[in-house]
Amino acid sequence: MITAAELIKKLEAWSDTTGDYSKTCDTVKCGDPDKPVARIAISMFATPDVIRQAARWRADMLIVHEPSFYSHMDVRLENDPITQAKEQLLKEAGLVLYRFHDHPHRKPFDMICEGELKALGLPYHNFANAHWAVNTIELDEPITPRQLGRIMQERLNIAQPKICGTMDQLCSRISLCFGTPGGVFEELRSDDIDIVLTGEACEWMLGEYARDAAQLGFCKALIIMGHIGSERDGMKLLAQKLPEIQPGLAVRYFECGEVYSYPRFY
Ligand SMILES: [Fe+2]
Ligand SMILES: [Fe+2]
Repeated sequence: MITAAELIKKLEAWSDTTGDYSKTCDTVKCGDPDKPVARIAISMFATPDVIRQAARWRADMLIVHEPSFYSHMDVRLENDPITQAKEQLLKEAGLVLYRFHDHPHRKPFDMICEGELKALGLPYHNFANAHWAVNTIELDEPITPRQLGRIMQERLNIAQPKICGTMDQLCSRISLCFGTPGGVFEELRSDDIDIVLTGEACEWMLGEYARDAAQLGFCKALIIMGHIGSERDGMKLLAQKLPEIQPGLAVRYFECGEVYSYPRFY
């Protein structure tokens, strides 16, 4: 049986071998890397519910895209009861927890972007990689931000995409800033871009820029998808690909859900 460390090596080689990974966050966060692994859980975040569900499914390893301990490098907060309780839960679950973030974004076709575009299912041309985790496309058929938001609800299962700026103008030049990459404001300001899609954004700056642009007659919109909604289908794609990379594994995607609740207040 393959060990967690061997699987990680294979996975990283499959993604990209050209980047400088001397300071990567793609490391084992807890558990024994020499543990043999056959059952692999995948999620966006290692939430307590995901850890419990993965343990119940008897997962040997959990692969996540995002940090588990509230800092990019998963540095543990000192004297923090939430951190301690989560650490304990992971220990009891006996999982190898590994973060897969830099490698998939650096894959020749950014794996997260590939998964999102596949799930959106909108034909496009002129795909270009602008820079780290930022890609641009031109849609074959123009679409309004309102229509795009609806498609996100239906196909990406995003509860409430938030739209700043123009709502009903036809647009075709889209910048894909899934997650929270750098350079989103520059994308929004670009003459070549009508709509910017991103996971999270600074409301007072980017949101208001898009609103001003629209009120001044420019065709410009920012769609905030939520961090999970903007990258989840990329990790779901990994769940599909992993059995091809390492045959014989049992692989399952575990849904962590959006971080927000959308309650009705009666
Ligand atoms: Fe990401
Ligand atoms: Fe992210």
